[in-house]
Parts: sequence; structure tokens; C-alpha cells
Amino acid sequence: MQVQIVGNPGLTSPRSGLNNFSVMASRYFLPGKDRARGVRILFDRIAPRYDFMNDLQSLGLHRRWKRRMVELAHAQRPKRALDLCCGTGDLAMGLVLQSCQVLGLDFSGRMLAVARRRIGHGRELAPSFIRADALSIPAIDGAFDLVTIGYGLRNLVDMQLGLNEIYRILRPGGSLLILDFGKPTNPVWRATYFLYLRTLVPLLGWILAGDGHAYAYILPSLKAYPAQTGVTRALERAGFGDISLRNYLGGVTSLHLARKSSEKF
Ligand SMILES: C[S@@+](CC[C@H](N)C(=O)[O-])C[C@H]1O[C@@H](n2cnc3c(N)ncnc32)[C@H](O)[C@@H]1O
Repeated sequence: MQVQIVGNPGLTSPRSGLNNFSVMASRYFLPGKDRARGVRILFDRIAPRYDFMNDLQSLGLHRRWKRRMVELAHAQRPKRALDLCCGTGDLAMGLVLQSCQVLGLDFSGRMLAVARRRIGHGRELAPSFIRADALSIPAIDGAFDLVTIGYGLRNLVDMQLGLNEIYRILRPGGSLLILDFGKPTNPVWRATYFLYLRTLVPLLGWILAGDGHAYAYILPSLKAYPAQTGVTRALERAGFGDISLRNYLGGVTSLHLARKSSEKF
């Protein structure tokens, strides 16, 4: 499907210049209901370089944080797990066990194509992948024991709707793990981190992937995201309990674990 990006008409080309970095909110961060379209176009565009850029920009730290999430996920002993916003499949592949079937879901066809390529053929234990919208999951109520979402919740047009939908497809007693960028509480560290996202990240994106705007998207998406405390409140509103939070690297990334009550009302 050919989709045209609207908005920010002054920003015409991905290589529209370094001097835009200080002012641009990212051509992919579209307002209102157009936001999902911008996000899908963004990830379709960066899919081939996504893993390489992730390793570079986080100095490999995202792998360590994802490993911690997978360890926590396995400790829940799930039989059916869903990795939402699975992208190129890091978490979905990590979750797979003999005793656990894993489904990865994403709405970017190109991110899923990379995920499928990474798995290759003939692997005995591999996740399945489906292209769908995380806000309207094609699954019956209570279908999964565990849901994971890595660096995806921040991208949803309506985070609360997303959490309500996850609650619906989890079985009573099932667990949710959310890994995403956070907002450090230390003002100096937070300012340093935001400066990194505003300058170096788009610069690297421009030099190495030919698209600074795609990488400038992270900061506005994080600013619009309620992060640690806001996510905890939204989880409570959705009905989750037993909520715990871990912060990594002074709050640059955070990991929530929450449970759907096993009591029937
Ligand atoms: C930053 S990537 C994270 C990929 C992977 N989970 C990881 O940790 O590397 C965010 C992913 O969320 C997907 N995404 C965003 N909004 C979505 C939605 N509403 N439904 C399905 N996928 C969505 C994007 O296509 C993208 O692949």
C-alpha cells in the first residue's frame, strides 16, 4: 500500500539537513488519528537497519534489558505467549521454549519480513508471526498466559486502549511485561539523555541510515508517553494488579510487570 506522509510540509526529504534537528519534532510523529499511519510508515522504512541501529544507539544495552525481560517472562511459566509490537522478533524469539508457544504481532509488514528472515526455515522451535493492530488483537478473551511488549506501548495512538485490549486477551492470573524508554527522575541525567535523543540519535540516523527524521521520532514519542508512573496508573485503570517496576540506567528504560486478577467477579 502506498501511503503519503502528511504534515510538516517544510520537511521534504529524509536528507533535509542537519540544521533541522534542533527544531523538528520528526516528520513521522503525526498528530491525532494520523499517528498510527506515521508510525507504520516509519517502521516500514527503517526495518532493514532497525537491529543495527538499535545496537549502535543503545551500545548493545537493549539486548541486556530484553534478556532480563525474557527471564522474568519465563519465570511466569507461560504456555501461550503473545509478543505485541514484536518488530524484528528479538523478544518473540527469546520467549520460545519447548513448553511455550509464542505469537509475535506487529502492523509493519517490513519489520515482520525481517523477523521471518531471521528465523529462517526448518527451526524446530520458532515463534509464529501475524500482521495486525495491537489495538484490535485478533484473539478471543483470555487466549494468552503472558503478553510482552518491548518499546511498543509508547508508539500506540491510545495507550489506555492498548492496555485494556491486553487485559481482555490475557487469561485470569496471566501476566503482562512492558519494556520501554522511561523518563529519569534526576533532572541532570534526564536533560543529558534528552539531549542525546535530540541530537546524536538523529545525527547517527542521518549518517548511517539516511533518515534523521526517523530517529528524531523517539524524543517526541517519549515526551508524549507518561512513562514510569503514568504507565503504572494506566495499568491500574485497565484492571491490572501486583504491579512492579524496575528502572535501568537511571530510568532511561523501565520494565513493568503486572498481573490480571485470577478472581472471578
Ligand atoms: C520500537 S519497535 C519495537 C520492536 C521490538 N519489540 C523490539 O523491542 O525491538 C516498535 C514496533 O511497534 C510496532 N507498532 C507500533 N504501533 C503498533 C500497532 N498499533 N499495532 C501493531 N504494531 C505496532 C511497529 O511497527 C514497530 O515494529
